[in-house]
Amino acid sequence: MKIFLDSSKVSEAKKWMPVIEGATTNPSILLKDGSNIEEFISVMEGKPVSVEACGDFLTDARKYSKIPDAAIVIKVPLLNPEGGSNLSIIEELTKEGIQVNCTALFSLSQVILATAAGSRYVSLFAGRVDDEGGNYASMIEDCRNYLEEDASDTELIVGSIRTIGNVLDSVRAGAHIVTIPPNILEKMLMHRYSLDTVRQFEEDSKKLNAR
Ligand code: E4P
Repeated sequence: MKIFLDSSKVSEAKKWMPVIEGATTNPSILLKDGSNIEEFISVMEGKPVSVEACGDFLTDARKYSKIPDAAIVIKVPLLNPEGGSNLSIIEELTKEGIQVNCTALFSLSQVILATAAGSRYVSLFAGRVDDEGGNYASMIEDCRNYLEEDASDTELIVGSIRTIGNVLDSVRAGAHIVTIPPNILEKMLMHRYSLDTVRQFEEDSKKLNAR
């Protein structure tokens, strides 16, 4: 399982670089973080960064994909705000050699369509399902099984992570990638017994050196 960073903060990308293999952003994340996407991409060391195309998808996608020394993945929602299909956009970008992360997916049937259109990644939003008491683990498991049976190269990203439990459930259910916000990575790192232990060792080593 790979870890992606679900953030556009340069400081967080630098901090978590030893463990992350890519990053995901969306317009809400960029707005909240107040980030400059080009600066963020420049610190990502060529690891894949998903950037959401908005408005005129093809123009936006072509613009982002020209950023040098970067592995840009264009996020395309399966549906547009009018409820229409973005499948032809996914197909067109894929034909142009631009990798697509089909986003805001909530079912196996959507994953089947997104994959058939050529998406390199498909993003399931676990936390939003969990918010309403839905069973996101079985959704992930179904999608992973489908991709395996289809011998697909498409990777399953699980996003919308709210808790460490969401991360662990997603890993157990078969996510290829979990994209994790910095506050949850911080919680995964911390354990008070680890802290107690290293503090005790530190104190004892000082006593040892003073002998
Ligand atoms: C990741 O690709 C998603 O854009 C992100 O995780 C969505 O999270 P949210 O449901 O908290 O908006």
